[in-house]
Amino acid sequence: MSNQFEKKSEAWSALFSEPTSELVKRYTASVAFDRRLWRADIAGSRAHAEMLAMQGVIAAADLAAIESGLATIASEIENGSFEWRLDLEDVHLNIEARLVELAGDAGKRLHTGRSRNDQVATDVRLWLRDEIRTIRALLADLQLALVGLADKHTETILPGFTHLQVAQPVSLAHHLLAYVEMFSRDAERMGEVYARTNRLPLGAAALAGTSYPLDREAVAKALGMDGICRNSIDAVSDRDFAIEFTAAAALCMVHVSRFSEELVLWMNQSFGFIELADRFCTGSSIMPQKKNPDVPELARGKTGRVAGHLMGLLMLMKGQPLAYNKDNQEDKEPLFDSVDTLQDTLRVFVELVPGIGVKAEAMESAAAKGYATATDLADYLVKKGVPFRDAHEAVAHAVKHAIQQGIALGDLTLEALQGFHPAITSDVRGVLTLRGSIASRTVEGGTAPERVKSEIARHRARLRR
Ligand code: ARG
Repeated sequence: MSNQFEKKSEAWSALFSEPTSELVKRYTASVAFDRRLWRADIAGSRAHAEMLAMQGVIAAADLAAIESGLATIASEIENGSFEWRLDLEDVHLNIEARLVELAGDAGKRLHTGRSRNDQVATDVRLWLRDEIRTIRALLADLQLALVGLADKHTETILPGFTHLQVAQPVSLAHHLLAYVEMFSRDAERMGEVYARTNRLPLGAAALAGTSYPLDREAVAKALGMDGICRNSIDAVSDRDFAIEFTAAAALCMVHVSRFSEELVLWMNQSFGFIELADRFCTGSSIMPQKKNPDVPELARGKTGRVAGHLMGLLMLMKGQPLAYNKDNQEDKEPLFDSVDTLQDTLRVFVELVPGIGVKAEAMESAAAKGYATATDLADYLVKKGVPFRDAHEAVAHAVKHAIQQGIALGDLTLEALQGFHPAITSDVRGVLTLRGSIASRTVEGGTAPERVKSEIARHRARLRR
């Protein structure tokens, strides 16, 4: 069987008067990492070959030989017997060379009307599309885990912070649902990226399109794609889908990172708000008392690398003239690592969240120490007709006095409170309690337990669909 890949090991050698240097081969080869695209590569080749046969560009017998060859290659790769060759540069040439070994001339006909330029763009899009599906499923799991924990804590008081200083009491549930909102927007963003990723470049060939009567829509349909890339030059040259995916991934990691930072703080002895299950912690090799929140710390740290990949991909693209340039081979490692990092992080958090042990008394007493109901007292005065700025001033004096005495606002006698403003009467007691405060915040989006419970129900209905 004649096989030019075997004899010369490069598809373009006829023109060349000397072999590519070993160093350059190693420098330009991508097979070590892009072999991970093999399933997408085979799926794309199969769809392309079927369409070629349907359009009468190749014979039915050629299609049969190509399909059986590709099936053999898929099982060889799966069982580890496929021999990946660095001298064949990338995943595409490795698979094609093996196909020619297995299917002879039929294998050589597969590349009709196709270039590696539209092939690689197709492979990356197919691969990423499937990974986005996994990410969306993980984001739904994570949201459900947070909602599950929130459901147990609609009455658990947490000091809400601004500037990391005690501001107003909220429920732990309300706080957790803030993250549910963030992750639901992340899932939405991923869905939007999916729609733009799931478009077919094949048919663009090297850059200008092809003279063969290809049915691009049929290939798109066979691959489950939502249509074709409309301009052949754009199809092979832009990687904006990878960039916007990485932007969405980086932003999602930023949300995980903020949550992580809170878990680390909450686990610190000075807060003592939570415990993490031991299986998510590690000890110290020198300090026997240590239990460290390594998982959230690592997630916080890994956020940096995904954000870095976003910058890397933007810089990869910025100077490239149209159309395809080899620069684009550099899109893969940052993209792969972004996907792996995000998926692993989400998987870990889906497990970690239900294992968060809440120390409700510590949270509540931190809120009680922070004069968190001062705004409620001011609002009480406003409801009695006092202008808000005057109420604010009167309460500031009351808080200053309570701090000097080392007591809570609620511990001041009625007479003492009336000394700060005469409009205060005995009905003030209810507004000075933490529970009274959260119960009063019934506005849509507020922390009142009734509101939060209906939000929990809304999220569950949305996520279980
Ligand atoms: N390995 C290449 C990449 O990842 C495939 C496309 C190569 N095309 C070319 N004309 N050299 O971008």
